[in-house]
Amino acid sequence: MEKSEGVQWWGGRGAVQSFAAMTASITAAAGGRTSVGKKVAVAATGLIGVGFVFAHMVGNLKVFLGREPINHYGEFLRDMGEPIFPRSFVLWTLRLVLISAVVIHITLTYQLMQQSRRARPIGYEYTEPVRKNPAARTMRWGGTALLLFIVFHLADFTWGVHPDFQRGEVYHNLITGFTRVPVTVIYLAAMFALAMHLYHGTWSVTQTLGVNQARWDRTIRRGATALAVVIAGGYSIVPLAVLFRLVK
Ligand code: HEM
Repeated sequence: MEKSEGVQWWGGRGAVQSFAAMTASITAAAGGRTSVGKKVAVAATGLIGVGFVFAHMVGNLKVFLGREPINHYGEFLRDMGEPIFPRSFVLWTLRLVLISAVVIHITLTYQLMQQSRRARPIGYEYTEPVRKNPAARTMRWGGTALLLFIVFHLADFTWGVHPDFQRGEVYHNLITGFTRVPVTVIYLAAMFALAMHLYHGTWSVTQTLGVNQARWDRTIRRGATALAVVIAGGYSIVPLAVLFRLVK
């Protein structure tokens, strides 16, 4: 074949470019498939978390029914599944599901973050902080803060690193726990972080599932806000009620 300018025997620069483009799109498609899979798994494990925080929030509201109902509820969590299963077996199964969900959620989120960093090693030259959703910006730090809160919270109410802890006395532990103002402030700040996380998480799920068309935008934002306010609000009224001595 005659080698003329522009049309070379090996196809020229255009062929190299289209090969590079094809390789890039195959790589992107393969990477995209895995990251979509990861995003779905992040959403699914997030949903397990939402199920837990909702159930736990409703359970905590029993403090308004008095000492007996909430202590009985705490006992029920341990007795659940008896006599078919040994005491605490169902509770430990649920704990393991929850711990696995949290570990998977965090690991995959971290991997997705690394993946997007690798895809954009230089970073954007220009970012628009004003247009960025504040919930999105606080997602990473909010998630970390929530994790630290959970460790603090378990130490406080479950492991008994609490100045006046009485095993099985959930009501007593709550009342004495939230009469410490700094602790109440930590809880309220954590509930704010939880609200942000729930809001943005719900919004992200709709992106993953592809239901984020403009016409759904307002409905999605309202739904996400309602979920965040109901759950974070439902949690927050417990320490607030103790602080203002509405329950004592
Ligand atoms: C004001 C908010 C909250 C209050 C008053 C509260 C109260 C409690 C209490 C009293 C317990 C001990 C229950 C028992 O010993 O039977 C507990 C356990 C626990 N809480 Fe919370 N909680 C709050 C928020 C949260 C949040 C936001 C999370 C997670 C994001 C959470 C996660 C847990 C976990 C994982 C346990 C251990 C459950 C178990 O394995 O037995 N809590 N909480």
